[in-house]
Amino acid sequence: METRVIYPGTFDPITHGHSDLVQRATRLFDHVIVAIAANPPKAPTFTLAERVAMARMALEGLPRVEVCGFDELLVDFARARGARVILRGLRAVSDFEYEFQLAGMNRKLSPEIETLFLMPAEQYSYISSSLVREIAALGGDITPFVHPRVMQALLQRLGKNHEEIPKTGRQDIPKRPAGNHEQ
Ligand code: COA
Repeated sequence: METRVIYPGTFDPITHGHSDLVQRATRLFDHVIVAIAANPPKAPTFTLAERVAMARMALEGLPRVEVCGFDELLVDFARARGARVILRGLRAVSDFEYEFQLAGMNRKLSPEIETLFLMPAEQYSYISSSLVREIAALGGDITPFVHPRVMQALLQRLGKNHEEIPKTGRQDIPKRPAGNHEQ
């Protein structure tokens, strides 16, 4: 039987740390579903459709990986997609408390689904999407942390370096008007 894992998150935007985890998962499972949560409480910088498009770009070429968005309970989505394992990354001890709570609650909601934790490569243990956004906003170099097309999209969203963005990148991630939260 095919083994399926679901890797949920907000991915606002996807970073090399996330991609590293997906790569590891492809070695353990037949099919990896990267499930991008709408997550309105987090007020993401990118719409759900944009986050899905960026993750697809960043993970292009990885075998047996599917990227999709969802806007429901994670355990319901996992069950509907035939995944019995939820994958989460543990970067540092500070992640543990939140992950413990999330895994416990998901187990309570759906006892047949297990949560599995993997550690990203050491060089990605301090990356987070919000830090990457902040560094980009303040003019820092984010090339070590994200896929080049994700970087273009982020700089474009922040209104930076617009001249250097190739036309293809501009079409992939349209500039979102202020206050437009459609997915
Ligand atoms: N590499 C880089 N960054 C990583 C990472 C890795 N391997 N692992 C985690 N992170 C970072 C993310 O970039 C993010 O950083 P930020 O908050 O600074 O932007 C942070 O860690 C956590 O983000 P993420 O892993 O995307 O999780 P999340 O907390 O945003 O998402 C969901 C949580 C989506 C899994 C959860 O809200 C959910 O399941 N929602 C669906 C609805 C539901 O079922 N709710 C009930 C849950 S019990």
